[in-house]
Amino acid sequence: MKQKALTVIKNMLSKKSTDDFIAESNATELKKTLNIFDLLILGISAVVGTGIFTIIGSAIVGGAGGTGAGTAVIISMLIAAIASLFSALSYSEIAAMIPVSGSSYTFTYATMGEFMAWMVGWVLMLEYAIGNITVATAWTGYLTQLLKGFRHVLPDFAVNFPLWLRNDFRSMYAICDKYGWDVHDKMPFIHFPFGIEMPVAINIPAIFIVLLLTILLIKGVKESTRVASIMVFVNLSIILLFVIVGSHYVMPENWQPFAPSPFFWKGVEGILSGTFIIFFAYIGFDAISTAAEETKNPQRDLPVAIIGTLIFCTVLYISVALVLTGIIPDGAIDTQAPLAHAMRSIGKGWYALAISVGALCALTSVLLVYQLGTTRIFYSIARDNFFPRSIMKIHPKFKTPHIITWISGLIVIIGSLFMDLNISAELCNYGTFASFVIICIEVLILRKTDPNRPRPFKVPFCPLFPILGIIMCSSFMIYKSFIIGGDSSLYFLLWVIIGLAIYIGYGYKNKRLYK
Ligand code: ALA
Repeated sequence: MKQKALTVIKNMLSKKSTDDFIAESNATELKKTLNIFDLLILGISAVVGTGIFTIIGSAIVGGAGGTGAGTAVIISMLIAAIASLFSALSYSEIAAMIPVSGSSYTFTYATMGEFMAWMVGWVLMLEYAIGNITVATAWTGYLTQLLKGFRHVLPDFAVNFPLWLRNDFRSMYAICDKYGWDVHDKMPFIHFPFGIEMPVAINIPAIFIVLLLTILLIKGVKESTRVASIMVFVNLSIILLFVIVGSHYVMPENWQPFAPSPFFWKGVEGILSGTFIIFFAYIGFDAISTAAEETKNPQRDLPVAIIGTLIFCTVLYISVALVLTGIIPDGAIDTQAPLAHAMRSIGKGWYALAISVGALCALTSVLLVYQLGTTRIFYSIARDNFFPRSIMKIHPKFKTPHIITWISGLIVIIGSLFMDLNISAELCNYGTFASFVIICIEVLILRKTDPNRPRPFKVPFCPLFPILGIIMCSSFMIYKSFIIGGDSSLYFLLWVIIGLAIYIGYGYKNKRLYK
């Protein structure tokens, strides 16, 4: 019995050598086509999206399970950027050293062994797939905004798209509240243990866009990043337009009070709540490392692309936040489509319409890159036999993992039928913080266990920077779970337990069976 337990523990801790990963990656059937420009596009298109177009509203005024940060959202953004930077540097060191796909899943396998690798892979799916559910839901929101702009030419049905066909829970709750209806009479709900329940609706626009992108991704990565680059160009131009036009209407008195409360600690609370939710706007640069196997010169290009993306986005976000909070008072900021609404409030209806188009492009490119990330993580996990290997089949003509791509698409479609945008964003943030903590720990471990492997990029001030990354990211998770609260911490726990059960019930056995 004792012997058996020891064997199980040994197996759970068994590592896959870095050389094996690299050899496997060299033998990969995936095409190596991406250059630094493609990677930057991939990064920016993964990062700029729901966060800056939608979630910024909740970060400023609250309403995402915490107080808002007000104009001090720019401090929240800086904190989120600094936390991301420490992890980005760590990602860069490892991604350039072990240029294989699968993001922190792969790196964890090489450093902490099989069990932790599976758990990290499982949490990464939370980041990618659940993140995409958030984006798909926001996509529907902006489509609705756009259609409303054409209310004079479109049929009434298209403009006033029924709430249950676009999964607009917030409006549904608001309407039920207003008329004193029981929301349970208006929508079906799924019930989970501990009294947790989720409404179910149909989200036609989300289904449409995810299906379209799934087909595009099956056709090829290069083709997909080309579409992403067109989208990025459109959405960056629109954001710049917002900043330039809006800056003429900034009234500095709207920046006062800077934080929402004159009491110092209340202000700090708002800034930290804002940081937790606006962090979503920074997620995505790690998607670059998931495409390492398809990159021509990963050693040089990955670190430059990751850090470049982060700096670029921080400057952009702070400009948008200053203009947004300068145009209208915090209390008047809309949380569904804040930028478009701000333009409308200064009488720029056409710009508001253009912003909806830009938002749709941004969200589409985030969806695309995240779907790509999900499939590549799935692929790496299946390659290690934690999922049936049959799902890894590569399409004979397009050379992409088509079965996995379909599965990833279906997960997002199903999730977008019943998840609320803020809850899925918070869950995604949990997954990301957890994977950031792990990646920083890995840098420290690899510096000890594999000191001689060439590192084309090294985290400066190591171990200080990775340790600061670990402290910042875990503090956010603890702060959110125990101080801000909200359902998402429970869902996160549930997700971890399900992952554990799959490993015990399937992954562990299948892994040994294959061996
Ligand atoms: N950072 C990405 C977005 O804001 C996930 O949509």
